[in-house]
Amino acid sequence: MTHLHRTVTQVIEPQFVIEGAGVLLRRSFGPQRANPFDPFLLFDHFAFNDPIEGPIVGFPTHPHRGIETVTYMLEGKVRHRDSLGNMGIIGPGDVQWMTSGSGIMHEEMPRRGPNGQVNGFQLWVNLPARQKMGSPRYQEVIAGDIPAVEQDGAKVRVVAGEFGDAKGPVTEIAAKPLYMDVTLEPSAQFGLEVVAGHSLVAYIFEGQGLFGMDENGQGELIEAVHMAVFGDGNRVRVQAGNGSGVRFMLVAGAPFKEPVVPYGPFVMNSEEEIRQALSDLRNGTFVKEKLVE
Ligand code: CO
Repeated sequence: MTHLHRTVTQVIEPQFVIEGAGVLLRRSFGPQRANPFDPFLLFDHFAFNDPIEGPIVGFPTHPHRGIETVTYMLEGKVRHRDSLGNMGIIGPGDVQWMTSGSGIMHEEMPRRGPNGQVNGFQLWVNLPARQKMGSPRYQEVIAGDIPAVEQDGAKVRVVAGEFGDAKGPVTEIAAKPLYMDVTLEPSAQFGLEVVAGHSLVAYIFEGQGLFGMDENGQGELIEAVHMAVFGDGNRVRVQAGNGSGVRFMLVAGAPFKEPVVPYGPFVMNSEEEIRQALSDLRNGTFVKEKLVE
């Protein structure tokens, strides 16, 4: 196969925003009608590294409809509880891939790890129109069940998609995602086939490296903390800086090319569907599948 190398078309400086009950986040992008990262709607990095930030609040009970939320933890934990009666802890290295479908109400409360830190990511993935009102579903995978491939100075944790012989445990997602946590030792290289036409971003959170290298080895030097957005092609290449190494989340998926109407925690295809979600909330008919006591 001819390789069309994906080059970097945009470097995003994440903006600090406050969400939930006062959680400080680094947001690379949020839901927009223009939907430039289709099928992805939002990418947040929550990191609390300084005790002067005070007590960790969190995300008290809130609804979601029409999307998937993906929580991946590096350090610390998120305690999770929802309207279906699910309850659990997302710990370091764990992932929760939550498909809200027609609706869930949940709370997400971070807890510091032993060294006083909370560090993790939340990605929102769109659902196609035909699945927006489907049944809620969870795929929760503990750290030990996420394959970690180590080769040539690269360590790749594969949550979704394939790298070498490893297949990510999260499957049957409409967006056909790749979701990987990649660590490269100084000067190590990483290459991966990515389906042409799929959206691709990398979130660089440690070190620095050359991203989107072409056939001549030219790429864009990007340091933490930034998001790289890639143009089209069927292969992506990265090389870690020689002094630093680099660590990044790599996220790709198939665009749905449908209208996007975001409203807070809902993302639907039309304003009428947003009005319906709000009226369902008012009327107590939002959650179609009730809490199991
Ligand atoms: Co939520």
